[in-house]
Amino acid sequence: MSSEDVQSLAGFREFFPAEFALRQHIFAAWRRVAARYGFVEYDGPPLEPLELYTRKSGEEIVGQLYSFTDRGGREVALRPEMTPSFARMISARAGGLPKPIRWFSIPQLFRFERPQRGRLREHFQLNMDIVGESDPLADAEIIAAALDALRELGLDETHIVARVSDRRLVSAILTAEGVSDDRHLAVYAVLDKADRETPEWLSERLEAATIEEGTRARLLELPTLGLEEVRLRYARDEAILAAADSLDLVLSHLGSAGFGDYARFDAGLVRGLAYYTGTVFEIWERSGDLRAVCGGGRYDDLLASLGGVDLPALGFGMGDVVLAELLRDLELAPDATLEIDDFIVCVSDDQRGTALAVGAALRRQDRRVIYDLRERGVGRQFKTANQLGAARAIVVGPDDVARGVVVTKDMSSGDTGEIELGELLDGPDE
Ligand code: HAM
Repeated sequence: MSSEDVQSLAGFREFFPAEFALRQHIFAAWRRVAARYGFVEYDGPPLEPLELYTRKSGEEIVGQLYSFTDRGGREVALRPEMTPSFARMISARAGGLPKPIRWFSIPQLFRFERPQRGRLREHFQLNMDIVGESDPLADAEIIAAALDALRELGLDETHIVARVSDRRLVSAILTAEGVSDDRHLAVYAVLDKADRETPEWLSERLEAATIEEGTRARLLELPTLGLEEVRLRYARDEAILAAADSLDLVLSHLGSAGFGDYARFDAGLVRGLAYYTGTVFEIWERSGDLRAVCGGGRYDDLLASLGGVDLPALGFGMGDVVLAELLRDLELAPDATLEIDDFIVCVSDDQRGTALAVGAALRRQDRRVIYDLRERGVGRQFKTANQLGAARAIVVGPDDVARGVVVTKDMSSGDTGEIELGELLDGPDE
Protein backbone atom coordinates (compact mmCIF):
# COMPACT_ATOMS: atom_id res chain seq x y z
CA MET A 1 0.00 0.00 0.00
CA SER A 2 1.45 3.39 -0.97
CA SER A 3 1.05 6.42 1.26
CA GLU A 4 -1.48 7.99 -1.19
CA ASP A 5 -3.81 5.07 -0.51
CA VAL A 6 -4.13 6.14 3.10
CA GLN A 7 -6.84 8.82 2.96
CA SER A 8 -7.40 11.36 5.70
CA LEU A 9 -10.25 10.46 8.06
CA ALA A 10 -13.81 11.51 7.16
CA GLY A 11 -14.72 14.76 8.89
CA PHE A 12 -11.09 15.88 9.35
CA ARG A 13 -9.78 18.71 7.22
CA GLU A 14 -6.53 19.14 5.39
CA PHE A 15 -5.77 22.85 5.23
CA PHE A 16 -4.19 23.52 1.85
CA PRO A 17 -2.80 27.09 1.60
CA ALA A 18 -6.09 28.64 0.40
CA GLU A 19 -8.03 27.02 3.26
CA PHE A 20 -5.30 27.89 5.72
CA ALA A 21 -5.40 31.55 4.61
CA LEU A 22 -9.15 31.62 5.31
CA ARG A 23 -8.62 29.99 8.70
CA GLN A 24 -5.98 32.61 9.61
CA HIS A 25 -8.24 35.39 8.34
CA ILE A 26 -11.01 34.17 10.67
CA PHE A 27 -8.69 33.71 13.67
CA ALA A 28 -7.12 37.16 13.18
CA ALA A 29 -10.58 38.80 13.14
CA TRP A 30 -11.60 36.85 16.25
CA ARG A 31 -8.45 37.93 18.10
CA ARG A 32 -8.91 41.60 17.14
CA VAL A 33 -12.48 41.62 18.41
CA ALA A 34 -11.64 39.73 21.62
CA ALA A 35 -8.94 42.32 22.35
CA ARG A 36 -11.41 45.18 21.73
CA TYR A 37 -13.70 43.72 24.40
CA GLY A 38 -10.82 43.34 26.87
CA PHE A 39 -10.51 39.52 26.73
CA VAL A 40 -7.20 37.69 27.30
CA GLU A 41 -6.30 34.41 25.57
CA TYR A 42 -5.79 31.03 27.27
CA ASP A 43 -5.71 27.36 26.24
CA GLY A 44 -6.30 24.01 27.94
CA PRO A 45 -5.36 20.37 27.28
CA PRO A 46 -6.78 18.74 24.11
CA LEU A 47 -7.12 15.41 25.97
CA GLU A 48 -9.09 15.29 29.22
CA PRO A 49 -10.38 12.72 31.70
CA LEU A 50 -13.61 11.25 30.29
CA GLU A 51 -15.62 12.08 33.40
CA LEU A 52 -15.14 15.82 32.84
CA TYR A 53 -17.70 15.49 30.02
CA THR A 54 -19.88 12.64 31.27
CA ARG A 55 -20.56 14.71 34.38
CA LYS A 56 -21.28 18.07 32.78
CA SER A 57 -21.82 18.25 29.04
CA GLY A 58 -25.19 16.58 28.55
CA GLU A 59 -26.20 13.49 26.58
CA GLU A 60 -25.81 14.81 23.05
CA ILE A 61 -22.13 15.67 23.35
CA VAL A 62 -21.33 12.59 25.46
CA GLY A 63 -22.76 10.42 22.66
CA GLN A 64 -20.27 12.04 20.26
CA LEU A 65 -17.09 11.72 22.29
CA TYR A 66 -13.80 10.49 20.90
CA SER A 67 -12.95 8.52 24.00
CA PHE A 68 -10.61 5.64 24.68
CA THR A 69 -8.58 3.95 27.39
CA ASP A 70 -5.00 5.23 27.31
CA ARG A 71 -1.94 3.04 27.80
CA GLY A 72 -2.05 3.75 31.51
CA GLY A 73 -5.61 2.39 31.77
CA ARG A 74 -7.17 5.82 32.19
CA GLU A 75 -10.50 6.68 30.49
CA VAL A 76 -9.82 9.80 28.41
CA ALA A 77 -11.56 11.89 25.72
CA LEU A 78 -10.50 14.42 23.11
CA ARG A 79 -12.17 17.69 24.09
CA PRO A 80 -15.57 18.08 22.35
CA GLU A 81 -16.06 21.56 23.85
CA MET A 82 -14.01 24.01 25.91
CA THR A 83 -16.42 25.01 28.66
CA PRO A 84 -15.68 22.19 31.19
CA SER A 85 -11.88 22.74 30.91
CA PHE A 86 -12.43 26.50 31.15
CA ALA A 87 -14.60 26.06 34.26
CA ARG A 88 -11.91 23.94 35.93
CA MET A 89 -9.10 26.38 35.03
CA ILE A 90 -11.12 29.35 36.27
CA SER A 91 -11.94 27.55 39.52
CA ALA A 92 -8.24 27.01 40.16
CA ARG A 93 -7.39 30.72 39.83
CA ALA A 94 -10.60 32.68 40.32
CA GLY A 95 -9.82 33.68 43.90
CA GLY A 96 -6.88 35.83 42.88
CA LEU A 97 -8.37 37.41 39.75
CA PRO A 98 -10.25 40.72 39.56
CA LYS A 99 -13.88 40.20 38.49
CA PRO A 100 -15.39 40.01 36.05
CA ILE A 101 -12.89 37.71 34.37
CA ARG A 102 -12.85 37.93 30.54
CA TRP A 103 -11.00 35.09 28.82
CA PHE A 104 -11.04 33.77 25.26
CA SER A 105 -9.58 30.77 23.46
CA ILE A 106 -9.57 29.19 19.98
CA PRO A 107 -9.37 25.42 20.68
CA GLN A 108 -9.68 22.63 18.13
CA LEU A 109 -12.54 20.37 19.23
CA PHE A 110 -13.54 16.83 18.30
CA ARG A 111 -17.02 15.33 18.02
CA PHE A 112 -17.95 12.06 16.36
CA GLU A 113 -20.82 13.49 14.29
CA ARG A 114 -22.02 12.43 10.85
CA PRO A 115 -19.96 14.67 8.55
CA GLN A 116 -22.07 16.98 6.36
CA ARG A 117 -22.04 20.57 5.15
CA GLY A 118 -21.12 22.75 8.11
CA ARG A 119 -20.60 19.79 10.43
CA LEU A 120 -17.34 17.86 10.75
CA ARG A 121 -15.55 15.71 13.28
CA GLU A 122 -13.11 18.45 14.21
CA HIS A 123 -13.59 22.19 14.27
CA PHE A 124 -12.02 25.28 15.76
CA GLN A 125 -14.21 27.31 18.07
CA LEU A 126 -13.81 30.83 19.39
CA ASN A 127 -14.80 30.69 23.07
CA MET A 128 -15.39 33.95 24.93
CA ASP A 129 -16.56 33.75 28.52
CA ILE A 130 -17.20 36.21 31.34
CA VAL A 131 -17.04 35.02 34.97
CA GLY A 132 -18.25 36.83 38.07
CA GLU A 133 -21.09 39.02 36.79
CA SER A 134 -24.81 38.26 36.98
CA ASP A 135 -26.13 41.58 35.62
CA PRO A 136 -27.96 41.37 32.24
CA LEU A 137 -25.41 43.89 30.98
CA ALA A 138 -22.92 41.00 30.89
CA ASP A 139 -25.35 38.95 28.78
CA ALA A 140 -25.70 41.83 26.34
CA GLU A 141 -21.91 42.31 26.27
CA ILE A 142 -21.20 38.66 25.39
CA ILE A 143 -23.86 38.59 22.64
CA ALA A 144 -22.53 41.90 21.26
CA ALA A 145 -18.99 40.46 21.20
CA ALA A 146 -20.20 37.40 19.27
CA LEU A 147 -22.04 39.56 16.73
CA ASP A 148 -19.04 41.86 16.42
CA ALA A 149 -16.75 38.89 15.74
CA LEU A 150 -18.95 38.13 12.72
CA ARG A 151 -19.36 41.76 11.68
CA GLU A 152 -15.56 42.05 11.65
CA LEU A 153 -15.58 39.41 8.89
CA GLY A 154 -18.04 41.38 6.73
CA LEU A 155 -21.35 39.86 7.89
CA ASP A 156 -24.18 42.22 8.84
CA GLU A 157 -27.83 42.09 9.95
CA THR A 158 -28.92 41.11 6.45
CA HIS A 159 -26.82 37.92 6.73
CA ILE A 160 -27.10 36.88 10.37
CA VAL A 161 -29.52 36.92 13.30
CA ALA A 162 -29.08 36.17 17.00
CA ARG A 163 -31.98 34.17 18.44
CA VAL A 164 -32.11 34.90 22.15
CA SER A 165 -34.06 33.26 24.96
CA ASP A 166 -33.76 32.52 28.66
CA ARG A 167 -33.97 29.10 30.31
CA ARG A 168 -35.54 30.73 33.40
CA LEU A 169 -38.33 32.04 31.19
CA VAL A 170 -38.95 28.76 29.36
CA SER A 171 -38.72 26.79 32.61
CA ALA A 172 -41.25 29.12 34.29
CA ILE A 173 -43.56 28.66 31.28
CA LEU A 174 -43.24 24.88 31.53
CA THR A 175 -44.05 25.05 35.22
CA ALA A 176 -47.07 27.26 34.47
CA GLU A 177 -48.17 24.67 31.90
CA GLY A 178 -48.04 21.97 34.59
CA VAL A 179 -44.87 20.24 33.34
CA SER A 180 -42.99 18.87 36.36
CA ASP A 181 -39.29 19.78 36.80
CA ASP A 182 -38.09 16.26 36.05
CA ARG A 183 -39.56 16.52 32.50
CA HIS A 184 -38.13 19.97 31.65
CA LEU A 185 -34.93 18.64 30.07
CA ALA A 186 -36.91 16.26 27.86
CA VAL A 187 -39.15 19.12 26.69
CA TYR A 188 -36.11 21.38 26.05
CA ALA A 189 -34.63 18.67 23.86
CA VAL A 190 -37.83 18.60 21.77
CA LEU A 191 -38.14 22.42 21.52
CA ASP A 192 -34.49 22.54 20.49
CA LYS A 193 -35.47 20.63 17.35
CA ALA A 194 -38.60 22.72 16.61
CA ASP A 195 -37.15 24.32 13.48
CA ARG A 196 -35.75 21.08 12.05
CA GLU A 197 -38.42 18.44 12.66
CA THR A 198 -42.04 18.01 11.56
CA PRO A 199 -44.91 18.95 13.93
CA GLU A 200 -45.89 15.24 14.05
CA TRP A 201 -42.40 14.19 15.14
CA LEU A 202 -42.28 16.94 17.79
CA SER A 203 -45.72 16.05 19.09
CA GLU A 204 -44.82 12.37 19.34
CA ARG A 205 -41.70 13.22 21.32
CA LEU A 206 -43.69 15.37 23.72
CA GLU A 207 -46.19 12.56 24.11
CA ALA A 208 -43.30 10.22 24.92
CA ALA A 209 -42.28 12.72 27.63
CA THR A 210 -45.84 12.27 29.02
CA ILE A 211 -47.05 15.76 28.08
CA GLU A 212 -50.84 15.96 27.64
CA GLU A 213 -52.38 16.74 24.28
CA GLY A 214 -53.64 20.29 25.03
CA THR A 215 -50.32 21.25 26.61
CA ARG A 216 -48.41 19.77 23.66
CA ALA A 217 -50.13 22.16 21.26
CA ARG A 218 -49.43 25.17 23.50
CA LEU A 219 -45.77 24.21 23.92
CA LEU A 220 -45.29 23.79 20.19
CA GLU A 221 -46.66 27.32 19.71
CA LEU A 222 -43.94 28.80 21.93
CA PRO A 223 -41.37 29.34 19.15
CA THR A 224 -43.85 31.61 17.33
CA LEU A 225 -44.59 33.93 20.29
CA GLY A 226 -43.07 37.37 20.78
CA LEU A 227 -42.00 38.54 24.25
CA GLU A 228 -45.13 40.72 24.53
CA GLU A 229 -47.39 37.77 23.68
CA VAL A 230 -45.67 35.72 26.38
CA ARG A 231 -46.30 38.53 28.87
CA LEU A 232 -49.99 38.72 27.93
CA ARG A 233 -50.52 34.97 27.92
CA TYR A 234 -48.97 34.52 31.39
CA ALA A 235 -49.84 37.97 32.81
CA ARG A 236 -50.36 36.70 36.36
CA ASP A 237 -47.19 34.63 36.68
CA GLU A 238 -44.50 36.56 38.60
CA ALA A 239 -41.64 34.22 37.65
CA ILE A 240 -42.45 34.49 33.95
CA LEU A 241 -42.80 38.27 34.08
CA ALA A 242 -39.49 38.68 35.95
CA ALA A 243 -37.65 36.47 33.46
CA ALA A 244 -39.27 38.36 30.56
CA ASP A 245 -38.14 41.70 32.05
CA SER A 246 -34.57 40.49 32.39
CA LEU A 247 -34.52 39.28 28.79
CA ASP A 248 -36.05 42.57 27.65
CA LEU A 249 -33.18 44.39 29.31
CA VAL A 250 -30.61 42.27 27.47
CA LEU A 251 -32.30 43.02 24.14
CA SER A 252 -32.59 46.72 24.94
CA HIS A 253 -28.87 46.94 25.87
CA LEU A 254 -28.06 45.21 22.60
CA GLY A 255 -30.16 47.81 20.79
CA SER A 256 -28.27 50.65 22.49
CA ALA A 257 -24.96 49.07 21.49
CA GLY A 258 -26.07 49.09 17.84
CA PHE A 259 -27.17 45.46 17.51
CA GLY A 260 -30.96 45.99 17.60
CA ASP A 261 -31.45 44.65 14.08
CA TYR A 262 -29.30 41.62 14.79
CA ALA A 263 -31.17 40.09 17.73
CA ARG A 264 -34.67 38.76 18.42
CA PHE A 265 -36.43 36.78 21.14
CA ASP A 266 -37.15 33.15 20.26
CA ALA A 267 -38.82 31.05 22.96
CA GLY A 268 -38.11 27.92 20.93
CA LEU A 269 -34.39 28.27 21.51
CA VAL A 270 -33.16 26.27 24.49
CA ARG A 271 -29.72 24.86 23.46
CA GLY A 272 -28.73 21.21 23.73
CA LEU A 273 -26.14 21.53 26.49
CA ALA A 274 -27.15 20.65 30.04
CA TYR A 275 -25.39 23.38 32.01
CA TYR A 276 -27.20 26.56 30.86
CA THR A 277 -29.24 28.30 33.56
CA GLY A 278 -30.29 31.68 32.10
CA THR A 279 -29.89 33.57 28.84
CA VAL A 280 -29.22 31.30 25.88
CA PHE A 281 -28.57 32.39 22.30
CA GLU A 282 -27.55 31.15 18.90
CA ILE A 283 -26.47 33.07 15.82
CA TRP A 284 -27.78 31.78 12.52
CA GLU A 285 -27.38 32.66 8.91
CA ARG A 286 -30.76 34.21 8.02
CA SER A 287 -31.79 31.57 5.48
CA GLY A 288 -31.27 28.87 8.13
CA ASP A 289 -29.66 26.54 5.55
CA LEU A 290 -26.56 25.96 7.64
CA ARG A 291 -26.36 24.96 11.28
CA ALA A 292 -25.79 27.70 13.88
CA VAL A 293 -22.54 29.67 13.58
CA CYS A 294 -22.46 30.35 17.29
CA GLY A 295 -24.14 29.22 20.48
CA GLY A 296 -23.84 30.14 24.11
CA GLY A 297 -25.47 31.33 27.26
CA ARG A 298 -25.34 31.72 31.00
CA TYR A 299 -24.23 28.81 33.18
CA ASP A 300 -24.31 30.15 36.73
CA ASP A 301 -24.09 26.77 38.51
CA LEU A 302 -21.37 25.00 36.51
CA LEU A 303 -18.31 26.29 38.38
CA ALA A 304 -19.70 25.33 41.78
CA SER A 305 -20.93 21.95 40.56
CA LEU A 306 -17.44 21.07 39.35
CA GLY A 307 -16.33 21.56 42.94
CA GLY A 308 -14.90 25.01 42.32
CA VAL A 309 -15.83 28.56 43.19
CA ASP A 310 -19.49 29.61 43.15
CA LEU A 311 -19.44 32.35 40.51
CA PRO A 312 -21.92 33.25 37.78
CA ALA A 313 -20.57 32.72 34.27
CA LEU A 314 -21.60 33.03 30.64
CA GLY A 315 -20.07 32.72 27.22
CA PHE A 316 -20.30 31.32 23.73
CA GLY A 317 -18.63 29.07 21.20
CA MET A 318 -18.36 30.14 17.54
CA GLY A 319 -17.33 27.47 15.04
CA ASP A 320 -15.04 28.03 12.06
CA VAL A 321 -16.66 25.42 9.78
CA VAL A 322 -20.05 27.05 9.25
CA LEU A 323 -18.40 30.45 9.21
CA ALA A 324 -15.93 29.48 6.48
CA GLU A 325 -18.81 28.10 4.36
CA LEU A 326 -20.73 31.35 4.83
CA LEU A 327 -17.78 33.57 3.94
CA ARG A 328 -17.09 31.52 0.82
CA ASP A 329 -20.77 31.60 -0.24
CA LEU A 330 -20.86 35.39 0.18
CA GLU A 331 -17.47 35.83 -1.49
CA LEU A 332 -16.07 37.37 1.68
CA ALA A 333 -13.10 34.97 1.83
CA PRO A 334 -9.71 36.62 1.19
CA ASP A 335 -7.51 35.77 -1.80
CA ALA A 336 -4.75 33.43 -0.76
CA THR A 337 -2.21 34.99 -3.11
CA LEU A 338 1.43 34.94 -2.17
CA GLU A 339 2.64 38.49 -1.76
CA ILE A 340 6.27 39.05 -2.68
CA ASP A 341 8.04 42.38 -2.29
CA ASP A 342 11.38 41.62 -3.96
CA PHE A 343 12.58 39.02 -6.44
CA ILE A 344 16.38 38.95 -6.64
CA VAL A 345 17.73 38.35 -10.12
CA CYS A 346 21.27 37.00 -9.85
CA VAL A 347 23.01 37.54 -13.21
CA SER A 348 25.53 34.74 -12.70
CA ASP A 349 26.77 32.52 -9.91
CA ASP A 350 29.78 34.86 -9.52
CA GLN A 351 27.40 37.35 -7.82
CA ARG A 352 25.71 34.65 -5.70
CA GLY A 353 27.39 35.77 -2.45
CA THR A 354 26.29 39.39 -2.93
CA ALA A 355 22.78 38.30 -3.96
CA LEU A 356 22.40 36.21 -0.81
CA ALA A 357 23.67 39.08 1.37
CA VAL A 358 21.23 41.49 -0.35
CA GLY A 359 18.33 39.05 0.25
CA ALA A 360 19.27 38.66 3.91
CA ALA A 361 19.49 42.45 4.41
CA LEU A 362 16.06 43.01 2.81
CA ARG A 363 14.50 40.26 4.91
CA ARG A 364 15.92 41.94 8.03
CA GLN A 365 13.87 44.96 6.91
CA ASP A 366 10.83 42.62 6.98
CA ARG A 367 10.47 42.56 3.21
CA ARG A 368 9.23 39.36 1.56
CA VAL A 369 12.06 38.17 -0.64
CA ILE A 370 12.40 35.28 -3.11
CA TYR A 371 15.06 34.20 -5.59
CA ASP A 372 15.61 31.15 -7.76
CA LEU A 373 17.23 28.31 -5.87
CA ARG A 374 19.54 27.36 -8.74
CA GLU A 375 21.43 29.22 -11.46
CA ARG A 376 19.10 30.31 -14.26
CA GLY A 377 19.15 32.76 -17.17
CA VAL A 378 18.19 36.38 -16.46
CA GLY A 379 15.13 36.23 -18.76
CA ARG A 380 13.85 33.13 -17.01
CA GLN A 381 14.31 34.75 -13.60
CA PHE A 382 12.29 37.82 -14.67
CA LYS A 383 9.57 35.52 -15.94
CA THR A 384 9.37 33.83 -12.53
CA ALA A 385 9.31 37.24 -10.80
CA ASN A 386 6.33 38.15 -12.98
CA GLN A 387 4.50 34.90 -12.37
CA LEU A 388 4.90 35.32 -8.61
CA GLY A 389 3.58 38.88 -8.79
CA ALA A 390 6.71 40.34 -7.16
CA ALA A 391 6.42 44.10 -6.69
CA ARG A 392 10.09 44.74 -7.46
CA ALA A 393 13.01 42.95 -9.09
CA ILE A 394 16.52 43.54 -7.81
CA VAL A 395 19.21 42.78 -10.35
CA VAL A 396 22.59 41.76 -8.98
CA GLY A 397 24.98 41.97 -11.96
CA PRO A 398 28.80 42.10 -12.25
CA ASP A 399 29.16 45.70 -13.54
CA ASP A 400 26.72 47.19 -11.03
CA VAL A 401 28.24 45.28 -8.13
CA ALA A 402 31.65 46.57 -9.21
CA ARG A 403 30.16 50.11 -8.95
CA GLY A 404 28.85 49.28 -5.47
CA VAL A 405 25.13 49.20 -6.42
CA VAL A 406 22.28 46.87 -7.36
CA VAL A 407 19.60 47.87 -9.87
CA THR A 408 15.92 47.87 -8.92
CA LYS A 409 12.99 47.56 -11.30
CA ASP A 410 9.38 48.26 -10.35
CA MET A 411 7.54 45.35 -11.92
CA SER A 412 4.33 47.24 -12.67
CA SER A 413 5.65 50.62 -13.88
CA GLY A 414 8.99 49.36 -15.24
CA ASP A 415 10.77 52.26 -13.49
CA THR A 416 14.36 51.50 -12.55
CA GLY A 417 16.57 52.75 -9.76
CA GLU A 418 19.64 51.86 -7.74
CA ILE A 419 20.39 50.89 -4.16
CA GLU A 420 23.82 51.54 -2.63
CA LEU A 421 25.22 48.18 -1.56
CA GLY A 422 27.23 49.69 1.29
CA GLU A 423 24.17 51.28 2.85
CA LEU A 424 21.97 48.22 2.34
CA LEU A 425 24.41 45.66 3.70
CA ASP A 426 25.77 47.69 6.62
CA GLY A 427 22.44 49.36 7.40
CA PRO A 428 22.04 53.15 7.63
CA ASP A 429 24.46 55.03 9.88
CA GLU A 430 23.16 55.23 13.43
P1 HAM B 1 -22.15 24.31 20.81
O1 HAM B 1 -23.47 24.89 20.43
O2 HAM B 1 -22.09 22.85 21.03
O3 HAM B 1 -21.69 25.07 22.14
O4 HAM B 1 -21.08 24.71 19.72
C1 HAM B 1 -20.89 26.06 19.35
C2 HAM B 1 -20.69 26.19 17.85
O5 HAM B 1 -19.60 25.35 17.45
C3 HAM B 1 -21.85 25.71 16.99
O6 HAM B 1 -22.80 26.74 16.83
C4 HAM B 1 -21.17 25.37 15.67
O7 HAM B 1 -20.93 26.52 14.87
C5 HAM B 1 -19.81 24.87 16.14
N1 HAM B 1 -19.79 23.38 16.11
C6 HAM B 1 -20.18 22.53 17.07
N2 HAM B 1 -20.03 21.25 16.67
C7 HAM B 1 -19.54 21.30 15.41
C8 HAM B 1 -19.17 20.32 14.44
N3 HAM B 1 -19.27 19.02 14.67
N4 HAM B 1 -18.70 20.75 13.24
C9 HAM B 1 -18.59 22.06 12.98
N5 HAM B 1 -18.91 23.03 13.85
C10 HAM B 1 -19.38 22.66 15.05
C11 HAM B 1 -20.58 24.76 22.88
O8 HAM B 1 -19.71 24.02 22.51
C12 HAM B 1 -20.49 25.53 24.19
N6 HAM B 1 -19.40 24.93 24.99
C13 HAM B 1 -20.25 27.00 23.92
C14 HAM B 1 -20.14 27.83 25.14
C15 HAM B 1 -19.03 28.46 25.60
N7 HAM B 1 -21.11 28.08 26.00
C16 HAM B 1 -20.64 28.85 26.97
N8 HAM B 1 -19.36 29.07 26.73
